[in-house]
Amino acid sequence: MPLNSLFIEKYSAMTGGISEATISRLKPLLEEIRELKKKHHAVILSHYYMTPELQVDTKNGGVADFVGDSLGLSVAGKDTKADYIIFCGVKFMAETAFILSPEKKVLLPDHQAGCSLAESITGKDVIALKEKHPGVPVIAYINTYAETKAECDVCCTSRNAVKIAKSFESKELIFIPDKFMGQNLASKFKTETDKTLILWNGSCEVHEQFRENIESMTMANPEAELLLHWEVPQETVASTLKTRKGIVGSTSDILSYVEQSKASQFILGSECDLGATLKGMFPTKQFITPCIMCQHMKRITLQNTLDALRSIGTPNEAQYNVSIDETIRKKAYAPIKLMLDLS
Ligand code: 13P
Ligand code: SF4
Repeated sequence: MPLNSLFIEKYSAMTGGISEATISRLKPLLEEIRELKKKHHAVILSHYYMTPELQVDTKNGGVADFVGDSLGLSVAGKDTKADYIIFCGVKFMAETAFILSPEKKVLLPDHQAGCSLAESITGKDVIALKEKHPGVPVIAYINTYAETKAECDVCCTSRNAVKIAKSFESKELIFIPDKFMGQNLASKFKTETDKTLILWNGSCEVHEQFRENIESMTMANPEAELLLHWEVPQETVASTLKTRKGIVGSTSDILSYVEQSKASQFILGSECDLGATLKGMFPTKQFITPCIMCQHMKRITLQNTLDALRSIGTPNEAQYNVSIDETIRKKAYAPIKLMLDLS
């Protein structure tokens, strides 16, 4: 039996990632959130790693105005005409929304929602790297804080990393901060370009856990295809994709892969609630995963999303407000803008 049978059971009865019964139980909360959004001209942007109730969009009885990956959320935040963005994701994502739209108010329901990658590197670290490798362009994964981005040449997300790296003429590139994603990218570049990457020693505390668990699930499920995020250790990617069909890529690559694949069973090497998203989108397919959750993402709940909305116009609003020193914001804007132009 697959190790994650609990996970499969939990979501197998769902359509659109959440059951009718749950929607009905949560109705008072959902209704108040919808009313407050209207009252304050606010939108809710929600990452694919949120719990299912935060991923259901307004069309399906939920509260999210947009559900997407980190690139999609950046663009949605920039394009919305709303006065308030309630960001259901982690801090570096909410910061990116603010950097792109300082005229809007960005509220993050829990400022403790961090990221092991973003916390692994500072702006000073980047300055030291540049001194060690003069003239080598620095690509910052979007999973970094504003003061780190401020020292970099360009940003990328998991979706556009390959394209961004290839857009630079330089043979050598510094890629920060995820060493596993960097190794996976370098392995792809080996066959496609002459580029080499200088890496930082950061890792995602969720994706770095996909190792023997994925290998044993691959052995136990001979028909299943593999869905591995760029942040999964290169050793796991190499050992499993050597013998099994599948993909290493971004969240959106994973969604596209499932859409075009004829397989009915998949092993997911990414955050557990992406499994719920997939199950909601492809209810006839089966997703097997060790179900590892990002504890930072899970800090955001329907309740603290409502609390953030309730705080608007009160002294409590300050505790949710995302703000960045204007000099740093302007410096961090340049690499994000370049990323969006190159995407
Ligand atoms: P995406 O860019 O695929 O949304 O991933 C963000 C992330 O934090 C992955 O762990
Ligand atoms: Fe950061 Fe990993 Fe959580 Fe993504 S899953 S937010 S990379 S800790």
